[in-house]
Amino acid sequence: MIPHDIKDPSLVEMGVKRIEWAERDMPVLRKIRERFEREKPLEGINVAACLHVTTETANLVRTLAAGGANVRLCASNPLSTQDDVAAALVHHYGISVFAIKGEDTDTYYQHIEACLEFDPKITHDDGADLVATLHEKYADTKAKNIWGSMEETTTGVIRLKALEKQGKLLFPVFAINDAMTKHLFDNRYGTGQSTLDGIIRATNRLIAGMTVVVAGYGWCGRGFAMRAKGHGARVIVTEVDPIKALEAKMDGFEVMPMEKAAPLGDIFCTITGDINVIRPEHFEKMKDGAIVANSGHFNVEIDIPGLEKMAKEVRRQVRPFVDQYILPDGRSIFLLAEGRLINLAAAEGHPAAVMDMSFALQALTGEYVAKNKGNFPVAVHNVPEEIDRWVAEIKLETMGVEIDKLTEEQKKYLASWDMGT
Ligand code: NAI
Repeated sequence: MIPHDIKDPSLVEMGVKRIEWAERDMPVLRKIRERFEREKPLEGINVAACLHVTTETANLVRTLAAGGANVRLCASNPLSTQDDVAAALVHHYGISVFAIKGEDTDTYYQHIEACLEFDPKITHDDGADLVATLHEKYADTKAKNIWGSMEETTTGVIRLKALEKQGKLLFPVFAINDAMTKHLFDNRYGTGQSTLDGIIRATNRLIAGMTVVVAGYGWCGRGFAMRAKGHGARVIVTEVDPIKALEAKMDGFEVMPMEKAAPLGDIFCTITGDINVIRPEHFEKMKDGAIVANSGHFNVEIDIPGLEKMAKEVRRQVRPFVDQYILPDGRSIFLLAEGRLINLAAAEGHPAAVMDMSFALQALTGEYVAKNKGNFPVAVHNVPEEIDRWVAEIKLETMGVEIDKLTEEQKKYLASWDMGT
């Protein structure tokens, strides 16, 4: 039996059904899998993936395995694992998985270790926990074997660029997040829709008529603000970047500091990548019954220790994913999913149609790393432009959308215009 640590093997049938359902919406990845099956570009290569264990990720790791890779998968978030998917991957598709929904921190890191045990050459990360472990514990050993690593998300790319800046990065990494076909769609439409979905599933509240406060107007925040407005909410944006704040204002949202938004909001959601965006001084001003969630970075965007300290009583799980914090004056603040990513904890993460593009980039960039055997400078690299454009072209093709092509005359004109002639 392949090495694994999952919750419940009996969930395999449900997992297979859901993975196949997601696959229907992942035509670009399917096309890559069919080619990988024929060409085996990853033959015999050990690949470790630390990603949310969801139906879409299952289709990525199936693609890598179809390319001939030996794959091990662990979770990039202890709450996002779908146990039926883990069961299906192990017992139906024969892929090693180490992930259990709700695992404690020790188990989470043991599972990362299990993925590193077989000395991977290529890694896929979402938040850079696996790469961080390689840097912290295996700088002189396993890190030296790595050809390259793919990083899925904004936070991970920020961590990796910080390492690069300090001269501490040990191997080449590719910022999947920074590819156009990733953040323009995944962060905006994927996080936008699934964050609202998570809040609705956790609370069953009617969004129409609510005041929703969005902290951060980056790619994810924009998507969420747009969807909340579409549901009939009054949306307030808080920002620290004057350009993003101006954009939010011109997109028709109210913009103000969190201190002023705190007494107005019914639902708060942080999506910034920053720490302590909502703090005790804000909880102090919130309405009784305010709902607070995060869809950004781990569980640090809301000052939960601060809220714990303020509360005179905490009632856990008043509904699944909802903890009630009762303040000394009797007001309640409802914290969703312990401040972890609400779209993954209470909903199902990004819909397959956007993950199709992100994971096509992961698979093709992995192939690119394998082809070049990691022969790149040690740096944070962009995904090659031709991969990004190919993904967009095929996605359009699968949607039945045709576009114009430049004529020879137009190509010449634009080229000469570029040269300023
Ligand atoms: P981004 O960099 O485009 O946007 C972040 C925005 O937050 C920036 O405009 C920044 O000025 C603002 N910000 C920073 N500190 C702030 C503060 N204290 N108050 C208000 N605004 C503040 O990043 P993006 O792509 O929107 O990602 C945001 C976060 O969401 C990251 O942590 C990323 O890893 C995470 N993410 C979560 C996903 C999910 O599935 N829930 C999916 C993709 C990204």
